[in-house]
Amino acid sequence: MVNIAFIGFGGVGQALAEILMEREKSLSRSYGLNTRVVAVADMMKGSIYDPDGLDVKNLLQAVRTDGTVEGIPGGPQAKKGWSSTDTIIHSNADVIVEVTFTDVNTGEPAITHCRTAFEHGKSVVTTNKGPVALAYKELAELAEDQGVFFGFEGTVMSGTPALRMPVETLAGNEITEIKGILNGTTNFILTEMEKGFSYEDSLEKAQQLGYAEADPTSDVEGYDARYKAAILANYLMGESLSHTEVECEGISGVTVDQVQDALREGKKLRLLARVKNEEGTVRASVKPERIDADDPLSGVTGATNAIVYECDLAGPILLTGAGAGLKETGFSLLIDLIHYQRERQPAKL
Ligand code: HSE
Repeated sequence: MVNIAFIGFGGVGQALAEILMEREKSLSRSYGLNTRVVAVADMMKGSIYDPDGLDVKNLLQAVRTDGTVEGIPGGPQAKKGWSSTDTIIHSNADVIVEVTFTDVNTGEPAITHCRTAFEHGKSVVTTNKGPVALAYKELAELAEDQGVFFGFEGTVMSGTPALRMPVETLAGNEITEIKGILNGTTNFILTEMEKGFSYEDSLEKAQQLGYAEADPTSDVEGYDARYKAAILANYLMGESLSHTEVECEGISGVTVDQVQDALREGKKLRLLARVKNEEGTVRASVKPERIDADDPLSGVTGATNAIVYECDLAGPILLTGAGAGLKETGFSLLIDLIHYQRERQPAKL
């Protein structure tokens, strides 16, 4: 049995809880993954811990109706009002699902939560980019020293397996370059501008559809994609690259004329993230680039994400799919949990 604590219980955490509840039998049968939610600690929704396990159906209903988890019944040993730190340190959780609202600039509180969990011998799965973009080396080494698991598949392209797929299925290749459309909001805006809409109108539509946040800075200035480029460099190219070392230019200065000019020349203007290994030196950039019609990324429109791995043996490999969404991001955490389980009980050959 894998005991799970949710640190943060917003839409992504709830999506994972729902998946675990609905697929309980098939996860057990197919992967030997049996989970029990023992704790939730959320700044806004309160906290509850029961070492014997919480009723997930009640939990989800309480959050969705009352906005708090503290009203649900727990067993005789249940505790309420624990902080995130109490929950990480003192609960009987094996895996901390770290899905707090975290400041992308500092990576906090997610980095501290990961560090605390590892120091106390607990594994972490997270969708927060900060721990991997800003503190990967420290946290990965700590997790390894402690013999615990650190999963973060959802940090790049949510449930589209941009991190694990190349490690597992492209193993044996040298990946010389990774380039991708890693931000759905900006790709949606650029696609709208191809239809002739202004930047401002396209951004407004992206906000109405829920792609862009009320403050769209992180997406439109390229910061979100820059963190993802740093994660790709750190995880797939073995480089300790800080996000500040990623050259970064967003799309807020792009005009409809520039987008349409590119189209007239048979090209597409896209916000491209590139991570390149040039004879042992890894360089990364995020900026608007004109891409040719025969580029595998040129057909990627709307909020879809896509990534190309340039492999020395296999050639270019394209992976495309959602880059956001509650169900998709919840699924990314499930991928991590299944791998946690596989590492705990490696399959017999
Ligand atoms: N805001 C991001 C996007 C998703 O638009 O792609 C989360 O990284």
